[in-house]
Amino acid sequence: MALQWWQRAVFYQIYPRSFADSNGDGIGDLDGVTAHLDYLNDGTPNSLGIDAIWLNPINPSPLDDGGYDISDYCGIHPDLGDLAAFDRLVAEAHRRGIRVIVDLVPNHTSNQHPWFIESRASRTNPKRDWYLWIPGRPDRPPSNWQSFFGGPAWKYDAATRSWYLHTFLEQQPDLNYRNPAVAEAMHDVMRFWLDRGADGFRVDVIHGLIKDDQLRDNPVRVEHDADIPWYAAGTQDPLYCSDRPEVHEIIRGFRRVTDGYQDRMMVGETWPREQERLADYLRPDELQLGFNFRFLLARYDARRFRAAIELTEKSFGPGAWPTWTLSNHDFPRHISRYSHGGDSEARARVAAVMIAALRGTPFIYYGEEIGMRDAEIPVERRRDPVGRDGCRSPMQWSGARNGGFSTGAKTWLPCGDFKAVNVARQMKDPRSMLSLYRRLIRLRKTAPALVEGSYRALDGAPEDCLMFHRETPAQRLVVALNFTAEPRKIDLPAGKIILSTIAARRAKSAKSFRTLAPNEAVIVETS
Ligand code: GLC
Repeated sequence: MALQWWQRAVFYQIYPRSFADSNGDGIGDLDGVTAHLDYLNDGTPNSLGIDAIWLNPINPSPLDDGGYDISDYCGIHPDLGDLAAFDRLVAEAHRRGIRVIVDLVPNHTSNQHPWFIESRASRTNPKRDWYLWIPGRPDRPPSNWQSFFGGPAWKYDAATRSWYLHTFLEQQPDLNYRNPAVAEAMHDVMRFWLDRGADGFRVDVIHGLIKDDQLRDNPVRVEHDADIPWYAAGTQDPLYCSDRPEVHEIIRGFRRVTDGYQDRMMVGETWPREQERLADYLRPDELQLGFNFRFLLARYDARRFRAAIELTEKSFGPGAWPTWTLSNHDFPRHISRYSHGGDSEARARVAAVMIAALRGTPFIYYGEEIGMRDAEIPVERRRDPVGRDGCRSPMQWSGARNGGFSTGAKTWLPCGDFKAVNVARQMKDPRSMLSLYRRLIRLRKTAPALVEGSYRALDGAPEDCLMFHRETPAQRLVVALNFTAEPRKIDLPAGKIILSTIAARRAKSAKSFRTLAPNEAVIVETS
């Protein structure tokens, strides 16, 4: 079957407050994004060449959780522009063949949302059961559920002598999807953005939309998962407040809405309780894509990467399509994570080849393509209550003031080291990280096996390297990645080197070779 656009695409995630400031107030905005679309894809090899952007939430919000606390689903936060600016962005993106997906945050609203203000007003308010209210005593929360940000997930509201659920901050009350009116309202929100030309949604916390109807206590986790700190044995297992069987019906309802439009898609923020079950969410009547978080957390270690890839390839049937992500707005950037005990820049190059060459859709986090690192955030400039500001710092366009991000006096978050790392400097340098990303993205357009090919792990490389095949009837590629700081002998079939992270290798027209340089990644076309 022919692949869909979201299978062929390379996605680029934009944190709108931090991409580009068009009006000098120190905050990135939608017109800023529009002004930089040519950088993302102007149809020539000069640009990055991405196919779709995902915008983190752009709606009005008191910003208790970086915009994931929405007070109006059908508006634009005034810092970012207005609906006309959104329409301009979509039109200009589409003119360049770039699709636009927006963040949908259906699990919770802000406590400033009119729905919650009404709901909290009295026990008999018509919006009361739009949220999860449980009458009771102030010393007895309805269950032992913990917020994913720490502390109890229930907050007592003395005015109506009831508890409400918030699986994130207390300013983010959870909606009640057992009430069909809530799902209907969310469908209307979806139609609002689809009608405006959005190509789909990244759906926040989609696994969490529905909770146990008996509010049973969560057990303690017994199985240890070394890759995911909050899947450690002894922590609370969110068995009854997350990843419930009933959630799939809610997702099918969302899917019916997007299927009413042509060519739209959803990518879920999917944290099933066991990663093996991610594919349960990827079905012809549910999500097209779901984030696979292993690489976001994994150390730079071939064994860890191999385990994540094998888990995915094994648990995904032929109907489920993988995604690969190294960084996002919730975790330290991978290049910063990789700086423990090694050359993080060289390591980030190998990782880039890995996500571009695996079977599935890569998602790039803004700034990753230039090797942007987490910024230092002094205590007094912190914005995020749970410490995620470092990876949300302003995009580094040039060595000019504020890294070319803003002409304002002060940027909303401190900038990183833009003198050393910026777009302008890397643009013309064939050895730059940016040039590597451009080459990789272009290669996905010219080497069909990278996108359509089957995947097969290959023996013939030591345990601390990875080697795999991508193959279509017309093309066979071998991808070899050395995750160590030493040369490694591998059994590489003879062929033409079509990409290497080592400049010297590209210069040689070597037909075959047996030793990967330290932290080298190569793609070879074999006959
Ligand atoms: C998701 C978002 C994160 C947010 C949380 C609550 O995990 O990625 O940024 O804080 O949901 O909405």
